[in-house]
Amino acid sequence: MLASGVDRILISEEEIIERCKVLGAQISKDYEGSAPVFIGLLKGSVPFMAELIKHVSIDCMLEFMDVSSYSGTESTGDVKIVKDLDCSIKDLDVIIVEDIVDTGRTLNTVVELLYSKGAKSVKVCSLLDKPDRRIVDITADYVGFKIPNEFVIGFGLDFNQKYRNLPYVGVLKEECYK
Ligand code: IMP
Repeated sequence: MLASGVDRILISEEEIIERCKVLGAQISKDYEGSAPVFIGLLKGSVPFMAELIKHVSIDCMLEFMDVSSYSGTESTGDVKIVKDLDCSIKDLDVIIVEDIVDTGRTLNTVVELLYSKGAKSVKVCSLLDKPDRRIVDITADYVGFKIPNEFVIGFGLDFNQKYRNLPYVGVLKEECYK
């Protein structure tokens, strides 16, 4: 039985776990000899971060920051830092963990910010990528799934703060926002 508001499941929990195993192994290989800091963007990245790091076999650190750019289903384009990092990332390799790259505005701002804080390198690992919606020219280095231009919820993604707890990624029913 689907949660009310969900039109259909786009990506199942099993598919997400399998993909996290592949991404975790790839990251572990690429960063061998380094101890990268995974920086999750709250709140959407939390379930993805939790699954991903189980499959990372190298030393690593975990941090979170909170930036906001959305209201309902629309990006406002105005990215605000709601919670900044608590630690220094100077000379460290950073991997930003994000739920979805949509217009690319959020990531672009965060990548610049992390370089300005002295990061040695900044890469991006995103559960989802909606390439059709891109406004800013930015590509994630590690992508779970490319998806079509539909508003999705679950596995961390919300609609007005609801549905983050769903164990799958689903498409939001149009009647919820039209
Ligand atoms: P961007 O700055 O437009 O790339 O937006 C990125 C942020 O917008 C993500 O971290 C999500 O919080 C939110 N977002 C974009 N598309 C969706 C969606 O389909 N469902 C839920 N949140 C979304």
